[in-house]
Amino acid sequence: MSFKVNDNVTWVGKIDWELRKFHGEELSTHRGTSYNSYLVQGSEKTVVIDTVWKPFAEEFVENLKKEINLNEIDYIVANHGEIDHSGALAELLREIPGTPVYCSQAGEKSLRGHYHQDWNFHTVKTGDKLSLGDKELIFVEAKMLHWPDSMFCYLTEDNILFPNDAFGQHYASEHMFNDLVDQDELYSEAIKYYANILTPFSKLVAAKIKEVTGLNLQVDMICPSHGVIWRKDPLQIVNKYMEWAQAYQENQVTIAYDTMWDGTRRGAEAIAAGIKEANPDITIKLYNAARSDINDVITEIFKSKGIVVGSPTINRGILHSIAALLEIAKGLKFQQKKACAFGCYGWSGESVKVITGLLEEAGFELINSDGLKIFWNPDEEAVANANAYGREIGTALA
Ligand code: FEO
Repeated sequence: MSFKVNDNVTWVGKIDWELRKFHGEELSTHRGTSYNSYLVQGSEKTVVIDTVWKPFAEEFVENLKKEINLNEIDYIVANHGEIDHSGALAELLREIPGTPVYCSQAGEKSLRGHYHQDWNFHTVKTGDKLSLGDKELIFVEAKMLHWPDSMFCYLTEDNILFPNDAFGQHYASEHMFNDLVDQDELYSEAIKYYANILTPFSKLVAAKIKEVTGLNLQVDMICPSHGVIWRKDPLQIVNKYMEWAQAYQENQVTIAYDTMWDGTRRGAEAIAAGIKEANPDITIKLYNAARSDINDVITEIFKSKGIVVGSPTINRGILHSIAALLEIAKGLKFQQKKACAFGCYGWSGESVKVITGLLEEAGFELINSDGLKIFWNPDEEAVANANAYGREIGTALA
């Protein structure tokens, strides 16, 4: 499969309908993904921007041969060294050895580290240009968006930004353009992608967007390396990124818990009822973390102004689904979110203290540093206490 992005740019990537986990088992991709590769033909030079994930390398090269005589490819641009975009480089360069590979300095390190090949690397910095004849590619380093080697490039005359992972979505669609797909699906995949991948780099995201918009380049299309191409109102996703990058929150609270014999679940529901009483307008999302997709829960936390985290005590600690959730939250460095803990216990009862410590370590502002300990399965009085705790949380988030 291939399709025309415009007269000079052809999409030559791979739609991966089957993918359900990305980065090993780390990130769920309920709607698959695509690995976008672009063939750009100028009046004098032809360039391939990025390739596809390694399992599709042969298919990629075979498809590319249907578009062009590979010997007519003058340059390859590797905006990012991660395998989902560089995975077909070896296969392609076996066919056209010696073709210059343009990448950032860190990109060369990454590609050498992954493939141990002495390819014809040409490293570029922000502002460097590559002429294709009637138009040129301008490179913009984009460190930590989302890896140190990440880079954007901009095609003059056509006014297309190729930002690699930025502005992408793990979203397989036969349509491949933003104006042709279901807008709710697109939005939910774009925000999930930002929440789970880009959140820790939010300050850099905002700075990079300001830097790129400060160049006053006209952007008629944004062609990311995953998901659909933004051609209708392409800056809408840039504006969303600016919003998401600035301690984004909606009027929402997420309660995430795990439970062994239902005590902590009942506590969670009583807390939710209390929040609702004190703060009727707030959206409350309740998740059993062990039975939910962890990346979907993270997306809801990203959208929340506060979170409430619960686990019963086990072996003087907490259940592993909650430990995993808090480990991810710590890495994502959420900003300006409030939080507190709860959990039931029968014997030693450390879970609330453990969760409270992890929340603090992850940068959450504590609503109540004592948390709520529920003794055994909550009786009427304990339910009333959990309800009051919920009201305290609801008030704190008003
Ligand atoms: Fe889509 Fe950072 O790879």
